[in-house]
Order: sequence, then C-alpha cells, then structure tokens
Amino acid sequence: MFQTHDKAINSSSSRIWFITGSSTGFGRALAEAVLAHGDRLVATARHLEQLQSLSAPSPEQLLTLALDVTNEAQCQEAVTQAMERFGQIDVLVNNAGYGLFGAIEETSALEVRQQFETNVFGLLNVTRAALPILRAQRRGHILMMSSIGGFVSFMGMGMYNASKRAVEGLSDALAQEIAPLGIHLTIIEPGLFRTDFTGRSLKVAERKIEDYAQTSGMVLDYTTKNIHGHEPGDPALAAAAILKVVEHPQPPLRLALGADALEMMRKKLDEVSQEWKTWEATSIATAFPTTPKESL
Ligand SMILES: NC(=O)c1ccc[n+]([C@@H]2O[C@H](COP(=O)([O-])OP(=O)(O)OC[C@H]3O[C@@H](n4cnc5c(N)ncnc54)[C@H](OP(=O)(O)O)[C@@H]3O)[C@@H](O)[C@H]2O)c1
Repeated sequence: MFQTHDKAINSSSSRIWFITGSSTGFGRALAEAVLAHGDRLVATARHLEQLQSLSAPSPEQLLTLALDVTNEAQCQEAVTQAMERFGQIDVLVNNAGYGLFGAIEETSALEVRQQFETNVFGLLNVTRAALPILRAQRRGHILMMSSIGGFVSFMGMGMYNASKRAVEGLSDALAQEIAPLGIHLTIIEPGLFRTDFTGRSLKVAERKIEDYAQTSGMVLDYTTKNIHGHEPGDPALAAAAILKVVEHPQPPLRLALGADALEMMRKKLDEVSQEWKTWEATSIATAFPTTPKESL
C-alpha cells in the first residue's frame, strides 16, 4: 500500500519522527531538535500556520500537517500522508495534551470529557493509526507524554492526573504487547517545564466552590502567579534527553525529566511502600484457608 524505502532512509542514523502538538512547548522543542539532528519529521499541529516558522536544514526533511488528535479520521489521514511522503515511521511522539485545573467536584462532565478526549482518546487515535505501520515494520518506538502528574496526584489537578494515569496504565500494557514485535515504548514523565502548559494551554473549571479555595484554588493561584514562566525545566534539554533515549538500544519504559519529577516520584514510591508495610498483615489475611490436597 505504501511506497517502500531506500536503505539510506532505513538506516538508524535517519529516523522518521511523527510528533503531535508541535506548535509550542515540548512538541516544538523536540521538532527543532529532531531536524537539527538530521532526522526527518512529520510535525503536526491543530493549526498549520503555527508550523510555518519551523524550518528544516533541508526542506525534504520536513512534512507539516494539520492534526487535531481528537479527530480520528484526521489521525488516520495524517499517518497515511506521512507514509506516502516518507514510507515509514520510526518514532511516534504522542505529545499533544493540556491540563484541566479545578477540584474534582468543580469540574463538569463536559470539561472532564474534553480532557480525556485529548489526553487519552486522542493519544489512542494516533496510536491506533500508527500501530499497523510499526507492526509491519517490526520496529519503531512510541513515546507517550505523561507527566509527574501521571504518577503523583495534586489537589486541583485531579482530572489531569486521572487522564495521565490512564495514559500510564494503557502504556504499561501496550509496551508488553508490542515488545515481542520489536517495538519500544517509553512513558515520558516531566516535572515542571517552561512551556505554554501553565499559560495559554491551561483550562480552568468554570465552576468555583468556595470550600475548595484553600486547596484547589490555592494550587491554581500559586501556579498562575508563581510557577508560570519560572518552571525549572528547559524543553530544549528535555528534547536532547528524549533523543538520547530513542538512540539507546534498550530504552527505558519510564523516563523522568527534571530533578523535581524524580524527587516527587521517589517520595511517592516510598510513601506507598511504607503504607503497604504498615498494612501488610491486613492485606494478606484475605485468602481462603489453604486446603491440604490430601484432604480433597
Ligand atoms: N510543561 C510541563 O510542565 C509539563 C509537565 C508534564 C507533562 N506535560 C505534558 O507535555 C505535553 C505538551 O505540553 P507542553 O508542556 O509542551 O505545553 P504547550 O506548550 O501548551 O503545548 C501543548 C501542545 O498540545 C497541543 N494540543 C492540545 N490539544 C490538542 C489537540 N486536541 N490536538 C492536537 N494538539 C493539541 C497544543 O496545540 P495548540 O497550539 O493548538 O493549542 C500544543 O501544541 C502535554 O501532554 C502535557 O500534559 C507538560
């Protein structure tokens, strides 16, 4: 169905990347790093004009496509166009996403649905479109942009946390399913990075409940006033780290990005482990009494 490719393009030194949400932030930084590295790129964004300023050292390296990940047909079409142009996809980067802020009770059914439409179902739309290609190739690498919030929950960000936890859950299983087919999967878990995430991309629940002012409200206030524009993480350095992982013959299942991410996730693991220990006797006292085989 798709044109086959010459040896030069198939060589590991020239990968074909497909990135969602390439307009700003991580997607944009990664797009620039990939092109500078000499790889080929299908850069996608909801609004094509936002990719006009993305320039490749050589024009044949780059294909730009309009893609809203919530549009399943457009995801299929984008993958088809990528194949028509480059004949293969080596690295799929499911990066597109945004954060919904608000206490759980403050978020409406529609706001939650939209959060999942992009962060989870959108990611699945692109993944489903690309998997037949990767399986046929018996090689490739899927990068799932999760978050520190996919591992640790924060008040005021519960539905974002839930969406990223869903990404982690499905990714864990998918990684096991595609490993025998020669396809890698890495879950990326960034801490705070200086992108548009806490600025223009931030969605805030319309409903406000005064009882949550000191919890969810405080987190939102602190985020917009003190964090936005001061995040420690540099997306260009994140892109360099991601390139390194993709080039590694045995890439990790999880890649934390940022000292903040590592510290908070380690703390979470320690807390969970400690709680398991405290409640161990209760946990294991739940099985049927063992029936000796000889008495059956
Ligand atoms: N920055 C952080 O601290 C941080 C930390 C952990 C995880 N993340 C994750 O990193 C990813 C990228 O975010 P970012 O930090 O780079 O923020 P960003 O600069 O706001 O970029 C978000 C990107 O996602 C795109 N997008 C949103 N909805 C989309 C849709 N329906 N279809 C296609 N593209 C869509 C945006 O497109 P438009 O330009 O059209 O809006 C934009 O390109 C997200 O998945 C986010 O959850 C970020």
